Amino acid sequence: MKPVKVGLLGLGTVGTGVVRILEGHQDDLQSQVGSPIVIEKVLVQNKEKARAVQIDPEKLTDDPWDIIHNPEIDVVVEVMGGLEHTKEYILEALSRGKHIVTANKDLIALYGPEILAKARENRCDVLYEASVAGGIPILRTLVEGFSSDRITKIMGIVNGTTNYILTKMSQEGASYEEVLKEAQQLGYAEADPTSDVEGLDAARKMTILATLGFRTNVALKDVDVKGITAVTKEDIQYAKRLGYEIKLLGIAERQDDQFCVSVQPTMVSRTHPIAAVNGVFNAVYVHGEAVGETMFYGAGAGEMPTATSVVADIVAVVKNLRLGVNGQQGITAYKELKPKADEQ
Ligand code: NDP
Ligand code: HSE
Repeated sequence: MKPVKVGLLGLGTVGTGVVRILEGHQDDLQSQVGSPIVIEKVLVQNKEKARAVQIDPEKLTDDPWDIIHNPEIDVVVEVMGGLEHTKEYILEALSRGKHIVTANKDLIALYGPEILAKARENRCDVLYEASVAGGIPILRTLVEGFSSDRITKIMGIVNGTTNYILTKMSQEGASYEEVLKEAQQLGYAEADPTSDVEGLDAARKMTILATLGFRTNVALKDVDVKGITAVTKEDIQYAKRLGYEIKLLGIAERQDDQFCVSVQPTMVSRTHPIAAVNGVFNAVYVHGEAVGETMFYGAGAGEMPTATSVVADIVAVVKNLRLGVNGQQGITAYKELKPKADEQ
């Protein structure tokens, strides 16, 4: 069968992992979708920069329209980050019938409804599994695995950088600044790590989780956010003496026709499984009326775990292409739930 052609926007931490998986697992991927998945073009800022993976220099471009306007390309994979340019490229790609896979939670949390509407209009897929909890397939689980249930609570650690920092401060007494630098070197942190440490990255992810979990439109402004910048080594040691770990928790709750979403540093009893989630790992606890308690655990950031989710989305797009059902994923009718804070 004819190869499916991918245009990759970005070849940093996540983009590099995508190239590695597409190359390393090509046989397994092809056996699932029936055709090769090939990278046609790769957008970078600096074409001269040394790369961790080998890419034919002919495939590198610094002009986004080489990808967005390229009639050969079927799927645009956005792993460059940022907001306004990225939104423009994605909307334009959709208007040209290209399917989108993105790891960009900022974009989905802020412009998700507009982008998804454009996708439906053009019968295109927009998939964003990697945008929340890196390698944990939590979005697919919420939408498909729990389609039969009514979810009442989603709680978890959804930012790897801050969990890495809090863990090192707790276990090694390390300083906040030095561990943040390490998390940046490991490729966990955002380009501007303020969004990690101030809780905004987690808030964006909770917006996406609550929207899909409660099947309602949750806006970023509805999330109450507090990050970890004010948490000191002394706070952590004091909490430990009392039998607690401090974790940056995202909590989304639904009651009748209301929801409430927050992100804040929280003292978690050491007897709770979330207290044992350390380093870059994330955990998402989901409570459904019928299923009861469930918990999902895995690497929340980093090259290969995140790329696993990105490539799984590419596979899903290609399967939909084979079946001719692109643009039909997601929720068709959102419930009208109100943020609880509106009434206070
Ligand atoms: P990086 O900063 O490592 O890589 C970004 C890449 O995009 C680079 O290759 C860069 O080019 C390119 N790029 C950035 N801006 C432009 C531009 N204006 N024009 C052309 N190319 C551009 O980012 P990450 O891989 O860490 O993250 C990418 C996305 O994935 C973000 O949305 C992030 O939030 C998300 N994400 C990241 C995770 C992680 O663990 N890192 C996990 C989950 C999601 P060049 O190489 O030339 O500088
Ligand atoms: N900066 C993010 C984190 C990347 O640390 O969780 C994964 O979304």
